[in-house]
Amino acid sequence: MSKQVALLTGGGDCPGLNAVIRAVTRRSLDRGYEVVGVREGWRGLVEGKFQELDSRAISGILPRGGTILGTTRTNPYEVEGGVERVRERFASQRLDALVAIGGEDTLGVASRLFEEHAFPVVGVPKTIDNDLSATDYTFGFDTALTVATEAIDRLHTTAESHNRVMVVEVMGRHTGWIAVMSGIAGGADVVLIPEQPITVEEACGDLQRRHERGKDFSIVVVSEGYELTYASGEQRQIAEAPAPTDQFGHVRLGGVGDALAHEIEERTGYETRVTVLGHVQRGGTPTPRDRILATRYGLKAADLVHAERWGGMAALRGDEIVEVPLRDAVAELKRVPPEFYEAARTFFG
Ligand code: F6P
Repeated sequence: MSKQVALLTGGGDCPGLNAVIRAVTRRSLDRGYEVVGVREGWRGLVEGKFQELDSRAISGILPRGGTILGTTRTNPYEVEGGVERVRERFASQRLDALVAIGGEDTLGVASRLFEEHAFPVVGVPKTIDNDLSATDYTFGFDTALTVATEAIDRLHTTAESHNRVMVVEVMGRHTGWIAVMSGIAGGADVVLIPEQPITVEEACGDLQRRHERGKDFSIVVVSEGYELTYASGEQRQIAEAPAPTDQFGHVRLGGVGDALAHEIEERTGYETRVTVLGHVQRGGTPTPRDRILATRYGLKAADLVHAERWGGMAALRGDEIVEVPLRDAVAELKRVPPEFYEAARTFFG
C-alpha cells in the first residue's frame, strides 16, 4: 500500500541533515511512496508548511550543509493547542508517517507524541553535541570535531610563535564531547568540560607546570557548557542571555572562553587569547564519515517507516545500524565517560 511520508528537521542545524533527507526520500520514492518535507521543524506541522520532495528536490544536496527544509526550536507542547494542531495537520494532509530528524528536544517531542498519541513517527539522531543516548554517535559530530581539531592545530603554531596561552571555546551545551575529543586529537594542554569540572586553580596549575618545563605556550579547550568552577566550591555559568531563550528552556550559552582567559591571565601572568569557534562548527559541508552515517541512518529510517516500526529510531552500535526505542534515546543525556577525559588529562600540564 502506498504511503505519504513526511520528514522534518528540528533544533540546531547540523552537517548531514540533507544527506538524511536525500536517503529517506530516495528509498521511499523507490518504494512508490510520496515524500513531503515539513518546513521549519515542528513549526511546519503546527502551522501547515509543507513542500513536496521528489527526485529533483534532492538532487545535489548530499554535500550541502544546513537543511533544505529549514529548522526552528519550536516545541508544540509549549504552543497553545500545538499538539492538537500537529495531529490535525497531519491528518488533513493525509500523511501516514513522520521521520523526525533531531536531537534531544526534537526527538523528545517525537517520543512523547508516540507514547501519548500513538503518533506514527520514527527518529534519526542528529546533533553536533553527540549527547543522545542509545546510539554510539550522532551524525554531525564528526564534522564539528574535524573543524575544532583543525582550529586547534592552527592555533598551536601561532601560540608557539608568540608564547601565548590560547583558549578555544567549543560548542557542547550539556556535554563535553567536542571539547574532549578535539582536545585529544589536537593535543590540548588543558580541557574543561561540564562532566568533569576541574577548577580554575587546577587549570592554572597545569599551565604553570608546563611553563616550568620550558613550554611557553599552551592550548586550553573549554566547552561552552563548562561552569567556571573554583577551589572554594563556587560555580558560575556563563551565558549570553541568562533567561530561557527557546521553547525548550535552554539559555543561550557563550562567553566562558573569555571569562576563563581573563582568570588565566590574571592568575598566571601569561598572555592569553581567546577563539570562539561558535557556529563555524555547525556550518558547511559534512565530512565523508558524517555523509555515510547520515545516509545509513536515512535508509534505516525509511525501512522503519516501511515496516511501520513507530516509536523507533535508527542508531549506530559498533558498525551496525540498528533500531532502538526513541524513548531510550531521550531518557537521559549521553555524557563523556571518565575514561575519555582521563585520556585527555594524561597530557595536561
Ligand atoms: O544543537 C547543538 C548546539 O550547537 C549546541 O552546541 C549549542 O549550545 C546550541 O546548539 C546553540 O544553538 P543556537 O544556534 O540555536 O544558538
